[in-house]
Amino acid sequence: MISDKFEPLKIPDVTEVLNSVEPTSQFCISVKVGPLSVSPMGFGTWAWGNQLLWGYQESMDSELQECFNLALKNGINLFDTADSYGTGKLNGQSERLLGKFIREFEGPIKSPDDVVIATKFAAYPWRLTSGQFVNACKSSLERLQIDRLGIGQLHWSTANYAPLQERVLWDGLVEMYAKGLVRAVGVSNYGPKQLLKIHGYLASRGVPLSSAQVQFSLLSMGDEQMELKSVCDSLGVRLIAYSPLGLGMLTGKYDASNLPNGPRSVLFRQILPGLESLLSCLGSIAERKGKTMSQVAINWCICKGAVPIPGVKTVKHVEDNLGALGWRLSPSEISELEAAAMDSPKKMLQNIFQTA
Ligand SMILES: NC(=O)c1ccc[n+]([C@@H]2O[C@H](COP(=O)([O-])OP(=O)(O)OC[C@H]3O[C@@H](n4cnc5c(N)ncnc54)[C@H](OP(=O)(O)O)[C@@H]3O)[C@@H](O)[C@H]2O)c1
Repeated sequence: MISDKFEPLKIPDVTEVLNSVEPTSQFCISVKVGPLSVSPMGFGTWAWGNQLLWGYQESMDSELQECFNLALKNGINLFDTADSYGTGKLNGQSERLLGKFIREFEGPIKSPDDVVIATKFAAYPWRLTSGQFVNACKSSLERLQIDRLGIGQLHWSTANYAPLQERVLWDGLVEMYAKGLVRAVGVSNYGPKQLLKIHGYLASRGVPLSSAQVQFSLLSMGDEQMELKSVCDSLGVRLIAYSPLGLGMLTGKYDASNLPNGPRSVLFRQILPGLESLLSCLGSIAERKGKTMSQVAINWCICKGAVPIPGVKTVKHVEDNLGALGWRLSPSEISELEAAAMDSPKKMLQNIFQTA
């Protein structure tokens, strides 16, 4: 039975969060995503299986497993994936690897909150009935070899190009929640207007909308993102920040003469030359605080009330990004960073599926 009442989650302010400490490790004070308790930062696994953009090879799997183990042992319990992750024959690889790593994890996994898998179901044009969307969820569960997902997210809205399909996908979310296949429901790449619509529809069906995942970082903090954040706050929906490191641009390790391999280099070549003042601001705050630039960029997302999910593919990434937890930027440092970000002539490109 689905409850017909939806109590909006009150997003606690910093003091409340700190007072309602629920430590999962020395660094992690968990936050609520609907009914779930998750670490204040999750990890993203888009790269796990993606050859084209991220240079994935199966020989990386043992290090990816170490990444997973290290994250979990340090209190990170939120892992973001998608049924579309993995290129070509490797489609679904990210979910399959997560499933294997959960099964082979040496420590105890006692409760469903110990590992919260947030997967995303693609709004493929051939997913035309709610039943087909529920089947997509079942296929993800099979690849992950778990009975129930933490968060089932609609990967993108079809409002801009196939509005009639959208209601079917929303009904699919309702059905997977009603069948107990997902503990919480979320969306991704939704703008504020579309978020209000789906929130209202799901509420009318007795299903709480728990999360909204969007590109959110110092390179993606325009009016749209800020409006979405305030709509999320008013509805009790948790904002999950994807690409919090601007695909790696905010880590400080790239510049115009040192670009990553693959298609990212095209984007970086366009954007990086305008980022000098933001990167130098990140660098000086990092130095002052004894942190790395990645840690500062991730911490900014946390200070804005979002749950960042930086992508990781090496143990070094995990170790470094764990250092984004357990401290906070001061209000003046946040203002300094935002002023530098606003002065930057270039921003990140937005996802083609992002709606208003
Ligand atoms: N909903 C959506 O449509 C959507 C879209 C995009 C992403 N996502 C989710 O969000 C997650 C994160 O976003 P993202 O992977 O696009 O970008 P990101 O988190 O901004 O950047 C991740 C990349 O930065 C580099 N990196 C990470 N930590 C680092 C560190 N401490 N030091 C140096 N380099 C570091 C790594 O790449 P290199 O070492 O190769 O530079 C890593 O793959 C994804 O994995 C995915 O789960 C969702």
